[in-house]
Amino acid sequence: MTTMTNRQWLLSRRPEGAVKPDDFRLEGGPVPVPDDGDVLVRTLYFGYDASQRIWLTENGGYMKPIGIGEPMRCMGIGQVVESRLPGYAPGDLVEGFLAWQDYVIARADGPMPLRKLPNSSYPVSWNLGIFGVGGLTAYFGVVEGLKVRAGDTVVISAATGATGYVAGAIAKILGAKKVIGIAGGPEKCRWVIEKAGFDACIDYKSDDIGARLQELAPEGVNAYFDNVGGPMLETLLYAMAPLGRVLICGAMSTGYTDAFKDPGPKNYMLICTKQLTMQGILLFFHADRIPQGAQQLGQWVAEGKLPVFEHVVDGFEHAPALLPTLFSGKEPGKLLLKVADPQ
Ligand SMILES: NC(=O)c1ccc[n+]([C@@H]2O[C@H](COP(=O)([O-])OP(=O)(O)OC[C@H]3O[C@@H](n4cnc5c(N)ncnc54)[C@H](OP(=O)(O)O)[C@@H]3O)[C@@H](O)[C@H]2O)c1
Repeated sequence: MTTMTNRQWLLSRRPEGAVKPDDFRLEGGPVPVPDDGDVLVRTLYFGYDASQRIWLTENGGYMKPIGIGEPMRCMGIGQVVESRLPGYAPGDLVEGFLAWQDYVIARADGPMPLRKLPNSSYPVSWNLGIFGVGGLTAYFGVVEGLKVRAGDTVVISAATGATGYVAGAIAKILGAKKVIGIAGGPEKCRWVIEKAGFDACIDYKSDDIGARLQELAPEGVNAYFDNVGGPMLETLLYAMAPLGRVLICGAMSTGYTDAFKDPGPKNYMLICTKQLTMQGILLFFHADRIPQGAQQLGQWVAEGKLPVFEHVVDGFEHAPALLPTLFSGKEPGKLLLKVADPQ
């Protein structure tokens, strides 16, 4: 076992600004040997999440920072090669915290325990997208965070993203009167309406967002799913209806070079004067109910109410180059890197 090659993308220096490919270096090493409680996993898919940029900062944000010389952490799908953990057996497909390596030691503890994947007729990669972080955050965020109900006008930023497009579809399922997306460029806006099924889309790169919201939601926005933060959040606070709800899911506009240093919205007193509710979401807090969320999402997909979009790139060598595209522009839906087929 230890003679097998294990390719690894290691952090070579702490990135400044946007991640550059040479912030990582490719090395080979022995396949790690599992200890009691460990599972040796052969990686199949790497998922791309903007939060990976936060883990590359000095303080790591809400998780342990990736150290210089350490492999890059990711959410991923793999296949168990060897198990010293009851309940996991060679051949099982699993999803959870893995890393940009061919072989990873994984454990069942931590904020997102290693999840054994059910046998299914749908593609295994869907467990990182629609049934993974994006889909599940959209589910808990729209249903329990925003509590979207019939008649609501809902706005979703980063509407082509893995979370945003699902959030919009769920809002429609729950009976929202109007679902408005925000995306970058006319082509992406067209996608948001024609493919993801939103009622309207605002182009944040060329439209006056405040003016467009006045046209599209003259009576105000009841629920805002915020993936972007910054000035866009301030514009939305002006556009909210009294008693509106705002869910803080992400802050793409910060670039996540230090997500915790940016000041909050200048006009936060609107939360008082409109009696808005502002709440955060972190999927970790819902980890024990992931099977429930995935089951409901699966039912909606099977009923044809929820579309599935993913963009899969092939090849281990591309791992670092894809990460900055989350911030600079990528295809709609969940971005994944396929590194191997199951055996
Ligand atoms: N709290 C949680 O538990 C949780 C879980 C999942 C995701 N999130 C957060 O949700 C957000 C979206 O993640 P995702 O996985 O859905 O998206 P994604 O698939 O990674 O795509 C990135 C999205 O961000 C948009 N974007 C990038 N830079 C932007 C900017 N400066 N201004 C406006 N939009 C920008 C892109 O839109 P364009 O292509 O249109 O520019 C794209 O839709 C992220 O902030 C992420 O951290 C949080």
